[in-house]
Amino acid sequence: MTTATLLLKGGVLPDGKTADIAISGETILAVQPAIGMEAAEVIDISGHLVSPPFVDPHFHMDATLSYGQPRINRSGTLLEGIGLWGELKPLQGEEEIEARALAYCDWAVSMGLLAIRSHVDTSDEHGLKGVRALLSVREKVKDYLDLQLVAFPQDGFYRSPTARDCTIRALDLGVDIVGGIPHFERTMADGRRSVTELCEIAAERGLMVDMHCDETDDPQSRHIEQLACETQRLGLQGRVAGSHLTSMHSMDNYYVSKLLPLIAEAGVAAIPNPLINITLQGRHDTYPRRRGMTRVPEMLNHGIRVGFGQDCVLDPWYSLGTADMLDVAFMGLHVAQMTSPADMRRCFDMVTQTSAAIMGLDDPGLAPGKRASLVVLDAGDPVEAIRLRADRLLVVSHGKVVARRAQTETALALPGRPANVSRRFQVRG
Ligand code: FE2
Repeated sequence: MTTATLLLKGGVLPDGKTADIAISGETILAVQPAIGMEAAEVIDISGHLVSPPFVDPHFHMDATLSYGQPRINRSGTLLEGIGLWGELKPLQGEEEIEARALAYCDWAVSMGLLAIRSHVDTSDEHGLKGVRALLSVREKVKDYLDLQLVAFPQDGFYRSPTARDCTIRALDLGVDIVGGIPHFERTMADGRRSVTELCEIAAERGLMVDMHCDETDDPQSRHIEQLACETQRLGLQGRVAGSHLTSMHSMDNYYVSKLLPLIAEAGVAAIPNPLINITLQGRHDTYPRRRGMTRVPEMLNHGIRVGFGQDCVLDPWYSLGTADMLDVAFMGLHVAQMTSPADMRRCFDMVTQTSAAIMGLDDPGLAPGKRASLVVLDAGDPVEAIRLRADRLLVVSHGKVVARRAQTETALALPGRPANVSRRFQVRG
Protein backbone atom coordinates (compact mmCIF):
# COMPACT_ATOMS: atom_id res chain seq x y z
CA MET A 1 0.00 0.00 0.00
CA THR A 2 1.31 3.45 -0.91
CA THR A 3 2.25 5.67 2.01
CA ALA A 4 2.34 9.44 1.79
CA THR A 5 5.00 11.55 3.45
CA LEU A 6 2.47 14.36 3.95
CA LEU A 7 -1.33 14.38 3.82
CA LEU A 8 -3.27 17.66 3.86
CA LYS A 9 -6.91 17.13 4.82
CA GLY A 10 -9.91 19.16 3.70
CA GLY A 11 -8.35 22.05 1.78
CA VAL A 12 -10.36 24.24 -0.58
CA LEU A 13 -8.85 24.37 -4.07
CA PRO A 14 -8.90 27.65 -6.04
CA ASP A 15 -11.88 26.35 -8.07
CA GLY A 16 -13.90 25.91 -4.86
CA LYS A 17 -13.76 22.11 -4.68
CA THR A 18 -12.74 20.49 -1.39
CA ALA A 19 -10.00 17.87 -1.54
CA ASP A 20 -7.26 16.13 0.40
CA ILE A 21 -3.75 16.32 -1.03
CA ALA A 22 -1.38 13.38 -0.62
CA ILE A 23 2.32 14.01 -1.15
CA SER A 24 5.18 11.54 -1.49
CA GLY A 25 8.67 12.98 -1.48
CA GLU A 26 8.68 15.99 -3.82
CA THR A 27 5.61 14.95 -5.79
CA ILE A 28 1.84 15.18 -5.42
CA LEU A 29 0.37 11.66 -5.37
CA ALA A 30 -3.34 12.45 -5.29
CA VAL A 31 -5.79 15.33 -5.08
CA GLN A 32 -9.27 14.05 -4.24
CA PRO A 33 -11.86 14.01 -1.45
CA ALA A 34 -11.37 11.75 1.58
CA ILE A 35 -8.01 10.14 0.83
CA GLY A 36 -7.61 7.21 3.24
CA MET A 37 -3.89 6.74 2.72
CA GLU A 38 -1.39 6.28 5.57
CA ALA A 39 0.92 9.27 5.95
CA ALA A 40 3.99 10.16 7.99
CA GLU A 41 2.39 13.53 8.78
CA VAL A 42 -1.26 14.55 8.52
CA ILE A 43 -2.25 18.24 8.69
CA ASP A 44 -5.86 19.41 8.91
CA ILE A 45 -6.39 22.41 6.62
CA SER A 46 -10.19 22.20 6.61
CA GLY A 47 -11.90 25.18 5.04
CA HIS A 48 -8.65 26.88 4.07
CA LEU A 49 -7.70 27.82 0.54
CA VAL A 50 -4.84 25.71 -0.79
CA SER A 51 -3.20 27.18 -3.86
CA PRO A 52 -0.19 26.76 -6.11
CA PRO A 53 2.60 28.94 -4.70
CA PHE A 54 2.88 32.64 -5.36
CA VAL A 55 5.18 33.65 -8.20
CA ASP A 56 6.86 37.01 -8.77
CA PRO A 57 7.86 37.38 -12.45
CA HIS A 58 9.61 40.75 -12.00
CA PHE A 59 11.92 41.76 -9.17
CA HIS A 60 15.29 43.42 -8.44
CA MET A 61 17.02 41.30 -5.84
CA ASP A 62 20.39 43.05 -6.15
CA ALA A 63 18.79 46.26 -4.82
CA THR A 64 16.26 44.93 -2.33
CA LEU A 65 16.38 45.88 1.37
CA SER A 66 18.78 48.75 0.65
CA TYR A 67 16.26 51.51 1.39
CA GLY A 68 17.93 54.68 2.67
CA GLN A 69 21.41 53.76 1.44
CA PRO A 70 23.10 56.11 0.84
CA ARG A 71 19.99 58.32 0.94
CA ILE A 72 16.30 58.19 0.08
CA ASN A 73 14.75 59.04 -3.29
CA ARG A 74 13.54 62.60 -2.70
CA SER A 75 11.53 63.13 -5.89
CA GLY A 76 10.10 59.61 -5.97
CA THR A 77 10.78 59.35 -9.71
CA LEU A 78 12.16 56.46 -11.72
CA LEU A 79 15.03 58.62 -12.95
CA GLU A 80 16.17 59.70 -9.46
CA GLY A 81 15.90 56.04 -8.44
CA ILE A 82 18.27 55.07 -11.26
CA GLY A 83 20.65 57.85 -10.20
CA LEU A 84 20.47 56.75 -6.55
CA TRP A 85 21.12 53.14 -7.53
CA GLY A 86 24.23 54.43 -9.37
CA GLU A 87 25.41 55.99 -6.08
CA LEU A 88 24.76 52.82 -4.11
CA LYS A 89 26.38 50.32 -6.48
CA PRO A 90 30.02 51.23 -5.79
CA LEU A 91 29.36 51.24 -2.04
CA GLN A 92 27.94 47.73 -1.70
CA GLY A 93 29.98 44.55 -1.61
CA GLU A 94 29.15 41.13 -2.95
CA GLU A 95 28.64 39.66 0.53
CA GLU A 96 26.26 42.45 1.49
CA ILE A 97 24.16 41.94 -1.65
CA GLU A 98 24.03 38.21 -1.02
CA ALA A 99 23.01 38.64 2.64
CA ARG A 100 20.20 41.02 1.72
CA ALA A 101 19.00 38.74 -1.08
CA LEU A 102 18.96 35.70 1.20
CA ALA A 103 17.03 37.68 3.82
CA TYR A 104 14.51 38.59 1.14
CA CYS A 105 14.22 34.95 0.04
CA ASP A 106 13.37 34.07 3.67
CA TRP A 107 10.61 36.70 3.60
CA ALA A 108 9.42 35.31 0.28
CA VAL A 109 9.15 31.74 1.52
CA SER A 110 7.25 32.89 4.62
CA MET A 111 4.77 34.50 2.22
CA GLY A 112 4.38 31.40 0.06
CA LEU A 113 6.36 33.08 -2.73
CA LEU A 114 8.38 30.21 -4.18
CA ALA A 115 9.46 31.47 -7.62
CA ILE A 116 11.05 34.83 -8.42
CA ARG A 117 12.43 36.25 -11.65
CA SER A 118 14.99 38.87 -10.67
CA HIS A 119 16.68 41.32 -12.97
CA VAL A 120 20.30 41.97 -12.05
CA ASP A 121 22.22 45.02 -13.19
CA THR A 122 24.83 44.24 -15.83
CA SER A 123 25.82 47.80 -16.74
CA ASP A 124 29.32 47.69 -15.29
CA GLU A 125 31.78 45.96 -12.97
CA HIS A 126 29.77 47.11 -9.94
CA GLY A 127 26.73 45.35 -11.37
CA LEU A 128 28.69 42.16 -11.84
CA LYS A 129 29.12 42.01 -8.04
CA GLY A 130 25.35 41.57 -7.95
CA VAL A 131 25.51 38.94 -10.70
CA ARG A 132 28.00 36.84 -8.74
CA ALA A 133 26.06 37.33 -5.48
CA LEU A 134 22.73 36.32 -7.00
CA LEU A 135 24.21 33.32 -8.83
CA SER A 136 25.38 32.15 -5.40
CA VAL A 137 21.94 32.83 -3.90
CA ARG A 138 20.25 30.96 -6.78
CA GLU A 139 22.32 27.92 -5.88
CA LYS A 140 21.72 28.24 -2.13
CA VAL A 141 17.91 28.48 -2.39
CA LYS A 142 17.37 26.04 -5.26
CA ASP A 143 15.91 23.27 -3.08
CA TYR A 144 12.97 25.44 -2.08
CA LEU A 145 12.79 28.56 -4.29
CA ASP A 146 13.09 28.92 -8.07
CA LEU A 147 15.21 31.99 -8.71
CA GLN A 148 15.58 33.07 -12.35
CA LEU A 149 18.05 35.81 -13.22
CA VAL A 150 17.76 38.35 -16.04
CA ALA A 151 20.85 40.18 -17.36
CA PHE A 152 19.67 43.76 -17.14
CA PRO A 153 21.81 46.61 -18.51
CA GLN A 154 20.16 49.19 -16.23
CA ASP A 155 22.16 52.16 -17.57
CA GLY A 156 21.44 51.31 -21.20
CA PHE A 157 22.89 48.53 -23.39
CA TYR A 158 24.48 51.18 -25.66
CA ARG A 159 24.25 54.23 -23.40
CA SER A 160 26.60 52.70 -20.84
CA PRO A 161 30.02 52.08 -22.42
CA THR A 162 30.53 48.88 -20.44
CA ALA A 163 27.02 47.41 -20.51
CA ARG A 164 27.32 45.35 -23.67
CA ASP A 165 30.47 43.58 -22.50
CA CYS A 166 29.18 43.08 -18.94
CA THR A 167 25.80 41.76 -20.14
CA ILE A 168 27.54 39.15 -22.31
CA ARG A 169 29.83 38.23 -19.40
CA ALA A 170 26.83 37.83 -17.09
CA LEU A 171 25.20 35.44 -19.57
CA ASP A 172 28.48 33.53 -19.83
CA LEU A 173 28.51 33.23 -16.03
CA GLY A 174 25.09 31.54 -16.13
CA VAL A 175 22.47 34.27 -15.92
CA ASP A 176 19.31 32.73 -17.39
CA ILE A 177 17.54 35.42 -19.41
CA VAL A 178 18.36 38.39 -21.66
CA GLY A 179 17.03 41.77 -20.49
CA GLY A 180 17.15 45.32 -21.79
CA ILE A 181 15.92 48.87 -21.28
CA PRO A 182 15.30 50.38 -24.74
CA HIS A 183 13.45 53.48 -23.48
CA PHE A 184 16.56 54.52 -21.53
CA GLU A 185 18.93 54.44 -24.52
CA ARG A 186 19.97 57.84 -25.91
CA THR A 187 17.57 57.81 -28.84
CA MET A 188 14.49 55.93 -30.00
CA ALA A 189 16.67 54.52 -32.80
CA ASP A 190 19.22 53.19 -30.30
CA GLY A 191 16.36 51.72 -28.28
CA ARG A 192 15.05 49.85 -31.33
CA ARG A 193 18.56 48.67 -32.21
CA SER A 194 19.09 47.40 -28.65
CA VAL A 195 15.88 45.35 -28.84
CA THR A 196 17.08 43.77 -32.07
CA GLU A 197 20.58 42.94 -30.86
CA LEU A 198 19.44 41.63 -27.47
CA CYS A 199 16.81 39.39 -29.09
CA GLU A 200 19.46 38.08 -31.49
CA ILE A 201 21.75 37.29 -28.54
CA ALA A 202 18.88 35.38 -26.88
CA ALA A 203 18.06 33.48 -30.08
CA GLU A 204 21.71 32.48 -30.59
CA ARG A 205 21.97 31.20 -27.01
CA GLY A 206 18.51 29.63 -26.85
CA LEU A 207 17.47 31.92 -23.98
CA MET A 208 14.29 33.70 -22.98
CA VAL A 209 13.93 37.49 -23.17
CA ASP A 210 12.43 39.81 -20.57
CA MET A 211 12.91 43.52 -21.22
CA HIS A 212 12.00 46.55 -19.23
CA CYS A 213 10.08 48.08 -22.08
CA ASP A 214 8.55 51.54 -22.36
CA GLU A 215 8.60 52.26 -18.63
CA THR A 216 7.66 55.86 -19.24
CA ASP A 217 4.62 58.10 -19.62
CA ASP A 218 5.78 59.04 -23.14
CA PRO A 219 3.13 57.72 -25.57
CA GLN A 220 5.73 57.76 -28.35
CA SER A 221 7.80 55.10 -26.58
CA ARG A 222 6.83 52.13 -28.74
CA HIS A 223 9.62 49.61 -28.26
CA ILE A 224 7.08 46.90 -27.48
CA GLU A 225 6.26 47.03 -31.19
CA GLN A 226 9.89 46.23 -32.04
CA LEU A 227 9.99 43.53 -29.36
CA ALA A 228 6.93 41.82 -30.86
CA CYS A 229 8.42 42.15 -34.34
CA GLU A 230 11.81 40.64 -33.37
CA THR A 231 10.05 37.85 -31.50
CA GLN A 232 8.31 36.89 -34.72
CA ARG A 233 11.38 37.30 -36.91
CA LEU A 234 13.60 35.17 -34.68
CA GLY A 235 11.02 32.52 -33.82
CA LEU A 236 11.02 33.38 -30.11
CA GLN A 237 7.25 33.07 -29.64
CA GLY A 238 6.28 32.12 -26.10
CA ARG A 239 9.76 32.95 -24.74
CA VAL A 240 9.58 36.74 -24.58
CA ALA A 241 8.09 39.13 -22.02
CA GLY A 242 7.76 42.90 -22.00
CA SER A 243 7.94 44.27 -18.47
CA HIS A 244 6.11 47.44 -17.39
CA LEU A 245 4.81 48.69 -20.80
CA THR A 246 3.54 51.77 -18.98
CA SER A 247 3.65 54.04 -22.06
CA MET A 248 0.70 52.03 -23.42
CA HIS A 249 -1.40 53.75 -20.74
CA SER A 250 -0.86 57.06 -22.55
CA MET A 251 -0.85 55.87 -26.16
CA ASP A 252 -3.35 56.86 -28.78
CA ASN A 253 -6.26 54.41 -28.82
CA TYR A 254 -6.08 53.83 -32.55
CA TYR A 255 -2.43 52.85 -32.35
CA VAL A 256 -3.15 50.49 -29.45
CA SER A 257 -5.84 48.81 -31.54
CA LYS A 258 -3.07 47.86 -33.98
CA LEU A 259 -0.48 47.07 -31.30
CA LEU A 260 -2.39 44.59 -29.14
CA PRO A 261 -2.98 42.06 -31.95
CA LEU A 262 0.75 42.30 -32.83
CA ILE A 263 1.72 41.44 -29.24
CA ALA A 264 -0.81 38.58 -29.15
CA GLU A 265 0.33 37.20 -32.51
CA ALA A 266 3.96 37.19 -31.34
CA GLY A 267 3.08 35.36 -28.11
CA VAL A 268 4.81 38.08 -26.07
CA ALA A 269 3.77 38.13 -22.41
CA ALA A 270 3.25 41.32 -20.41
CA ILE A 271 4.46 41.92 -16.86
CA PRO A 272 2.98 45.07 -15.28
CA ASN A 273 4.14 45.98 -11.80
CA PRO A 274 1.14 47.71 -10.21
CA LEU A 275 2.71 48.93 -6.95
CA ILE A 276 5.65 50.51 -8.70
CA ASN A 277 3.81 51.75 -11.79
CA ILE A 278 1.24 53.63 -9.72
CA THR A 279 4.07 55.05 -7.59
CA LEU A 280 6.59 56.09 -10.25
CA GLN A 281 4.47 57.01 -13.27
CA GLY A 282 2.58 60.28 -13.65
CA ARG A 283 5.20 62.12 -11.57
CA HIS A 284 5.56 64.80 -14.25
CA ASP A 285 1.80 65.37 -14.44
CA THR A 286 -0.21 68.00 -12.63
CA TYR A 287 -3.90 67.03 -12.74
CA PRO A 288 -5.49 64.89 -14.02
CA ARG A 289 -2.60 62.61 -13.07
CA ARG A 290 -2.14 59.41 -15.04
CA ARG A 291 -2.14 56.07 -13.27
CA GLY A 292 0.60 54.81 -15.56
CA MET A 293 -0.18 51.10 -15.43
CA THR A 294 -0.47 49.40 -18.81
CA ARG A 295 -3.80 48.25 -20.29
CA VAL A 296 -4.28 44.96 -18.45
CA PRO A 297 -7.94 44.05 -19.18
CA GLU A 298 -7.52 44.95 -22.84
CA MET A 299 -4.44 42.72 -23.15
CA LEU A 300 -6.23 39.84 -21.42
CA ASN A 301 -9.13 40.26 -23.83
CA HIS A 302 -6.67 39.85 -26.71
CA GLY A 303 -5.38 36.59 -25.25
CA ILE A 304 -2.06 38.09 -24.14
CA ARG A 305 -0.62 36.42 -21.04
CA VAL A 306 -0.27 38.94 -18.22
CA GLY A 307 1.53 38.34 -14.93
CA PHE A 308 1.79 40.89 -12.13
CA GLY A 309 5.24 41.54 -10.66
CA GLN A 310 6.38 43.16 -7.44
CA ASP A 311 9.45 44.91 -8.93
CA CYS A 312 10.80 46.52 -5.77
CA VAL A 313 10.84 46.15 -1.98
CA LEU A 314 12.67 48.70 0.17
CA ASP A 315 15.09 49.97 -2.47
CA PRO A 316 15.91 53.21 -4.35
CA TRP A 317 12.55 53.11 -6.15
CA TYR A 318 10.11 51.95 -3.47
CA SER A 319 10.05 52.49 0.26
CA LEU A 320 7.60 49.75 1.27
CA GLY A 321 6.90 46.06 0.60
CA THR A 322 6.88 42.69 2.35
CA ALA A 323 7.27 40.06 -0.43
CA ASP A 324 3.48 39.74 -0.40
CA MET A 325 2.14 39.00 -3.89
CA LEU A 326 -1.39 39.54 -2.52
CA ASP A 327 -0.46 43.21 -2.05
CA VAL A 328 0.48 43.21 -5.73
CA ALA A 329 -2.80 41.59 -6.81
CA PHE A 330 -4.74 43.97 -4.54
CA MET A 331 -3.16 47.06 -6.08
CA GLY A 332 -3.36 45.58 -9.57
CA LEU A 333 -7.08 44.96 -9.46
CA HIS A 334 -7.70 48.48 -8.15
CA VAL A 335 -5.58 50.26 -10.73
CA ALA A 336 -6.91 48.09 -13.59
CA GLN A 337 -10.46 48.36 -12.18
CA MET A 338 -10.78 44.58 -12.38
CA THR A 339 -13.36 44.34 -9.62
CA SER A 340 -15.84 41.72 -10.89
CA PRO A 341 -15.54 38.34 -9.13
CA ALA A 342 -14.17 36.75 -12.32
CA ASP A 343 -11.62 39.54 -12.81
CA MET A 344 -10.47 39.38 -9.18
CA ARG A 345 -9.83 35.66 -9.63
CA ARG A 346 -7.81 36.45 -12.75
CA CYS A 347 -5.73 38.80 -10.63
CA PHE A 348 -5.07 35.92 -8.23
CA ASP A 349 -3.98 33.77 -11.19
CA MET A 350 -1.66 36.59 -12.30
CA VAL A 351 0.37 36.24 -9.08
CA THR A 352 0.32 32.43 -9.15
CA GLN A 353 -0.13 30.16 -12.16
CA THR A 354 -0.04 32.63 -15.06
CA SER A 355 3.23 34.09 -13.85
CA ALA A 356 4.64 30.57 -13.41
CA ALA A 357 3.73 29.82 -17.02
CA ILE A 358 5.33 33.07 -18.21
CA MET A 359 8.51 32.09 -16.37
CA GLY A 360 8.44 28.73 -18.14
CA LEU A 361 8.20 26.77 -14.90
CA ASP A 362 7.16 23.19 -15.44
CA ASP A 363 4.76 22.50 -12.67
CA PRO A 364 2.23 25.17 -11.89
CA GLY A 365 -0.91 23.56 -10.54
CA LEU A 366 -2.10 21.09 -7.95
CA ALA A 367 -2.48 17.69 -9.61
CA PRO A 368 -1.04 14.17 -9.35
CA GLY A 369 2.50 14.01 -10.69
CA LYS A 370 3.17 17.74 -10.22
CA ARG A 371 5.82 19.08 -7.90
CA ALA A 372 4.46 19.30 -4.35
CA SER A 373 4.80 23.04 -3.79
CA LEU A 374 1.78 24.91 -2.44
CA VAL A 375 0.52 27.45 0.04
CA VAL A 376 -2.37 27.23 2.52
CA LEU A 377 -4.07 30.55 3.23
CA ASP A 378 -6.29 31.79 6.05
CA ALA A 379 -9.05 32.46 3.53
CA GLY A 380 -11.82 30.46 1.89
CA ASP A 381 -11.22 31.44 -1.73
CA PRO A 382 -8.90 33.51 -3.93
CA VAL A 383 -10.97 36.70 -3.71
CA GLU A 384 -11.06 36.53 0.09
CA ALA A 385 -7.32 35.90 0.05
CA ILE A 386 -6.81 39.16 -1.85
CA ARG A 387 -9.28 41.10 0.29
CA LEU A 388 -7.60 40.01 3.54
CA ARG A 389 -4.06 39.74 2.19
CA ALA A 390 -4.55 36.49 4.07
CA ASP A 391 -2.00 34.92 6.37
CA ARG A 392 -0.03 32.01 4.97
CA LEU A 393 -0.74 29.20 7.42
CA LEU A 394 1.43 26.61 5.71
CA VAL A 395 3.97 26.70 2.92
CA VAL A 396 5.12 23.45 1.31
CA SER A 397 8.04 23.44 -1.12
CA HIS A 398 9.28 20.32 -2.92
CA GLY A 399 7.15 18.24 -0.54
CA LYS A 400 8.56 19.74 2.66
CA VAL A 401 6.83 22.11 5.07
CA VAL A 402 9.05 25.20 4.93
CA ALA A 403 6.86 27.69 6.85
CA ARG A 404 3.99 27.48 9.35
CA ARG A 405 1.98 30.21 10.96
CA ALA A 406 -0.72 30.06 13.62
CA GLN A 407 -4.11 31.62 12.90
CA THR A 408 -4.37 35.03 14.46
CA GLU A 409 -7.34 36.33 16.44
CA THR A 410 -8.17 39.54 18.24
CA ALA A 411 -10.14 39.28 21.49
CA LEU A 412 -12.66 42.14 21.66
CA ALA A 413 -13.91 43.52 24.99
CA LEU A 414 -16.37 46.27 24.07
CA PRO A 415 -18.83 48.07 26.38
CA GLY A 416 -22.38 46.98 25.59
CA ARG A 417 -21.29 44.15 23.29
CA PRO A 418 -20.90 40.45 24.12
CA ALA A 419 -17.34 39.19 24.47
CA ASN A 420 -16.20 38.39 20.97
CA VAL A 421 -13.28 37.14 18.97
CA SER A 422 -12.52 38.80 15.65
CA ARG A 423 -10.80 36.77 12.93
CA ARG A 424 -9.59 39.69 10.85
CA PHE A 425 -12.75 40.62 8.99
CA GLN A 426 -13.65 37.09 7.95
CA VAL A 427 -17.31 36.47 7.24
CA ARG A 428 -17.03 32.73 7.76
CA GLY A 429 -17.59 31.30 11.28
FE1 FE2 B 1 12.00 46.55 -12.90
